[in-house]
Amino acid sequence: MIDMLHQDWFVDAQGQCQPRPTLRPWDLLQEHYYLHQFLSDVLHIIAHAPNEFDQWDYLPQIRRRVRQLVLNSYWLNTQRPDPDPKTGTAILTLYDEIGYPLTVQTVTTCAGMSTPIHNHGTWGVVALLEGQERHTLWRRMTHPDRIETTGQYILQAGEIISFQPEAIHQVEALEPTPSFTFQLYGDTQPKSRFQFEHAPFAVKPF
Ligand SMILES: [Fe+2]
Repeated sequence: MIDMLHQDWFVDAQGQCQPRPTLRPWDLLQEHYYLHQFLSDVLHIIAHAPNEFDQWDYLPQIRRRVRQLVLNSYWLNTQRPDPDPKTGTAILTLYDEIGYPLTVQTVTTCAGMSTPIHNHGTWGVVALLEGQERHTLWRRMTHPDRIETTGQYILQAGEIISFQPEAIHQVEALEPTPSFTFQLYGDTQPKSRFQFEHAPFAVKPF
C-alpha cells in the first residue's frame, strides 16, 4: 500500500469528481489499527452531525480513518471474498448488528463486470486496494427521471473515492485483474436510493 498511488477524491451531487487533500501514508502509519477502533472512530465522527443527512460534511475525517485502516490492517487485506462464478462479484460484510448505522464490507469484482447506474442514498467511501475501476459519473437533469453523464474517472489501487448521498455512478472493474475494495456507507435511506436507466430513461428503487 505504501508504494501505491495515494489520492482522495470526492464526487458531488452534480457528478463532479474533485481531488481532496490527502494525508501522506507515512503520517498515518502505526503498529495496530484494529477494525473495532476504526468503527468506534467513525461513529464518534458522525455523532457530531445534527442529523444523518449532514453526516457527509464529515467525509474528510472519515476518509482519513479509512486510509488509516487500509494502511495499517493486514487483516483487512486478507478479507477478500471469492467472486461468485455466476455474478462475477462477491461482498463480505465485515460487521453488522440490528440497527447498526454503517455498512462495512469488502467487495471483489471480476474484470469486465459493471454495476447498474445507481446512487447510495447515503454518504460513501470506497478504497481501491487492488485492480482498476472505471467510475462513470452522472447527474439528474431537470426532469427527475432523466440523467446525463458528467465524465469518467479511472480509480487506481491506493486511491479513495467518496460520495455525497445523491452522487450517481456506474462502476466497471477493468482488465486484467479483479478489483478488490473496502467500502463504507452511512445509514442507507431506502427512499433515497435509486437505480437509473438512461436508454430509455427510468428510475426505480435500488
Ligand atoms: Fe456504488
